[in-house]
Amino acid sequence: MARVTTTLDAWRRERRAMEPLSVGFVPTMGALHPGHRSLLERARAENDRVVMSIFVNPTQFNDPADLERYPRTLEADLELAGDLVDHVLVPSPAEMYPDGYAYRVTENALSASMEGAHRPGHFDGVLTVVLKLLNLVRPHRAYFGEKDRQQLELVRGMAGALMLPVEIVPCPTVRDPDGVAQSSRNRRLSPEARARASAFPRILRESADAKAAAAALERSGFGVDYVQDRGGVRLGAVRLEDVRLIDNVRL
Ligand code: PAF
Repeated sequence: MARVTTTLDAWRRERRAMEPLSVGFVPTMGALHPGHRSLLERARAENDRVVMSIFVNPTQFNDPADLERYPRTLEADLELAGDLVDHVLVPSPAEMYPDGYAYRVTENALSASMEGAHRPGHFDGVLTVVLKLLNLVRPHRAYFGEKDRQQLELVRGMAGALMLPVEIVPCPTVRDPDGVAQSSRNRRLSPEARARASAFPRILRESADAKAAAAALERSGFGVDYVQDRGGVRLGAVRLEDVRLIDNVRL
């Protein structure tokens, strides 16, 4: 069973005790699913020690109701992580934000589009907490899912721009048999909506261009926030019932 640490003082002692081993890090907000497991498996294969954080980061939620509704499932998460993880860091918001979020990381180009345009401040919150976690965990490698592709690109960009001594490792999206990308939000879909969700990645993949994909998604009953082609990848965000889904496919 993994060791769970909830205070930063105790964590710093744990981290010192790992020297000089290599450390792989998987940051999460909990509500783990098989997609997370694939990140943990990769981290396990490539490092001496695997650290996972579970922190539902308040600064990346622009909608307080969304933060409130976010599933918190620590026991099940520890179960799913099993032997893949050596240490789990579960810090408190008070310890993570001793400055009350007065200091933050802002990226001024990519973060304004797509997810950033629909969730103001979201990426400031993500980049700030990822930088804090990287400083606390000091991993050799950190693992991020390609499902959140814009997040992955921004984290990679931050690591380069701020010269962080960490390798950012992208991991392929894990999909259910019907093609739907694994996500903590899927469990909020009704069975009927979950069945309809498989049209989302299919339409992204099969449409001639982003505009045609957006129109086809609307016709299939999705609310469309955006569909955009970027660097050989088509990214999209849709709403089904009151659940927001994001995905991307290689063109
Ligand atoms: O992808 C996530 O779960 C979160 O955005 C992250 C990277 C753990 C930061 O809170």
